[in-house]
Amino acid sequence: MSEIHEIVQKRYGDIAASGVNTCCGTGMTQQPKLYEDKQLEGLPVDVTGLSLGCGDPVTIADLNPGETVLDLGSGAGIDCFLAARQVGEAGYVIGVDMTPAMLEKANANKEKMSVTNVEFRQGQIESLPVDDNTIDVIISNCVINLAPDKRPVFAEAFRVLKPGGRVSISDIVTEGAFTEELRADVEKWAECVTGAIDVAEYTNMMQQVGFVDIQVVDKVDAKDVIQQREGMPRIFSARITARKPQN
Ligand SMILES: C[S@@+](CC[C@H](N)C(=O)[O-])C[C@H]1O[C@@H](n2cnc3c(N)ncnc32)[C@H](O)[C@@H]1O
Repeated sequence: MSEIHEIVQKRYGDIAASGVNTCCGTGMTQQPKLYEDKQLEGLPVDVTGLSLGCGDPVTIADLNPGETVLDLGSGAGIDCFLAARQVGEAGYVIGVDMTPAMLEKANANKEKMSVTNVEFRQGQIESLPVDDNTIDVIISNCVINLAPDKRPVFAEAFRVLKPGGRVSISDIVTEGAFTEELRADVEKWAECVTGAIDVAEYTNMMQQVGFVDIQVVDKVDAKDVIQQREGMPRIFSARITARKPQN
């Protein structure tokens, strides 16, 4: 693991252990509202209370019954459980996360909810514990910005998707770049700030590994999620969709 992985894992391990939801950024007293109340009906507070995302990738994924879904950086499992309802018993949801304490939370939540079509696997999103061409839809919520190098994440996502499979990502991106000095702030990196890259660079990387129909569905100022400082580029929470070609 790189130093960044270690710091990120420590941060999310501590959050899982304390159960305190500090979202991506820090010092925010108010949690942003990411989901409609109706979507969250029936989910235990142990799931909703440890929602650490910056958007709602499940709704834009437009899931169908029977589909197999993979969540990159599944945390305590909120998006996996929402996806599981939509794909139904004929579908299946796999959540991958590298932080053991998060996986413990996710598995405890799964047991509490008696969900049978969700599985959590330990692993890094740069090296997915998932077979080639087996996934219909990849979702991810505020995780790819944390990866030290985003390219292998997109390459792995492309590898595991079935031909014609799609991705639906909520993530923190920027317009412009952080200075090298700010990028070296690993604590801010772990808070989903300085690991974020320019949205055009992000979508270019996706294109380079083979994704098509890449769309930035919407881009909202991340001020409710992240405290911005003087000298930073504009930071956004973006929803990005794309597809692996059929052939
Ligand atoms: C900001 S939290 C988001 C969790 C979840 N997606 C949600 O919406 O609540 C980031 C999660 O990604 C995981 N993570 C970060 N980098 C990772 C990596 N390189 N590989 C696997 N998991 C990673 C962390 O352990 C943490 O659980």
